[in-house]
Amino acid sequence: MDKLVSSRLNHESLPGDYIFPPETRPGGLKIPCSNISVIDLREAENGDRINTIQKMIKASEEFGFFQVINHGISENVMNEARSVFKELFEMPAEEKQKLCSDDPSKTCKMLTSSVNYATEKVHMWRDIFRHPCHPLEQWQHLWPENPTRYRECAGTFSVEVKKLASKILSLISEGLGLECGYFENDLTGSVLLSINYYPPCPEPSLALGVTKHSDPHIITILLQDHVSGLQVLKDGNWIAVEPIPNAFAINVGNQLQVISNGKLKSCEHRVVTNSHEARTSAGLFFAPTNECVVEPAKALTDEHHPPNFKPFKYKDFIPHFLSKHGDTDTVLKSFAAQKG
Ligand code: OGA
Ligand code: NI
Repeated sequence: MDKLVSSRLNHESLPGDYIFPPETRPGGLKIPCSNISVIDLREAENGDRINTIQKMIKASEEFGFFQVINHGISENVMNEARSVFKELFEMPAEEKQKLCSDDPSKTCKMLTSSVNYATEKVHMWRDIFRHPCHPLEQWQHLWPENPTRYRECAGTFSVEVKKLASKILSLISEGLGLECGYFENDLTGSVLLSINYYPPCPEPSLALGVTKHSDPHIITILLQDHVSGLQVLKDGNWIAVEPIPNAFAINVGNQLQVISNGKLKSCEHRVVTNSHEARTSAGLFFAPTNECVVEPAKALTDEHHPPNFKPFKYKDFIPHFLSKHGDTDTVLKSFAAQKG
């Protein structure tokens, strides 16, 4: 596979198979960027837990996105992770080639655009490197030896972000009225690190880094660098999730929408490119294990509030999600409960 966009030498013109039809091209932003909540997690520890929880739930209902600051992960851990992730994609093409594979059963690999590369009509202007990271002892030895600091930096980073996920999910479960530790089991038993690299793109107005989609997991915790690109769809408008120094962007996944019986929204988002600067982002996806059954929380449903979704195994959700290319409404409708 020599298709990696990060290995292309000449970015002078955009190849035809990266040009999106006019209706899905980036276009202009209609509203300014300031609406995504920024939540200070230190407040929750300083006695203002209820207020923090309320902000988090409101943001998750309205946008499915919020950012967190003062989250307890050191600047050093974040900077080291950012730099080693960037370094990974800036290695020589031959070195990256060793990480590529078309084998669907391989869990740790580099790919370009998406897992649907062979069948998608238009490709996305990004490369991805992804692998499981929990429990660390099970996976770390399978990670790349180059860059030499990769295993150590990605290991520390993923352990720290997992602690942050527990903190955030405990605030969310309290806000929803679920029992303490609701998500501390198979619901978040699978943790995937997915690193994206978007090289400068010769024609940002015609291409996309990632097309409109929602995330299929419970939550995503995303580390951005200083380059913009992420946008969330709200009432028909694309709103930028602008990078804030040392913040993480958090978004609700499809499974959390189901568990909250539709209260929290897994909003659609996308990534646009730019012509002057590469962008690196790293998402930690917290997902149920394959056999885990997902359904609206019992505490949130009763005779007057019937479940909006039927129970399903997570492993039955994913193939469905992939076949619909992340079209959220269509995917979730297939798991809707029969009414009447
Ligand atoms: C994703 C995603 C956003 C980004 O990987 O699912 O939405 O900013 N990434 O790279
Ligand atoms: Ni996403």
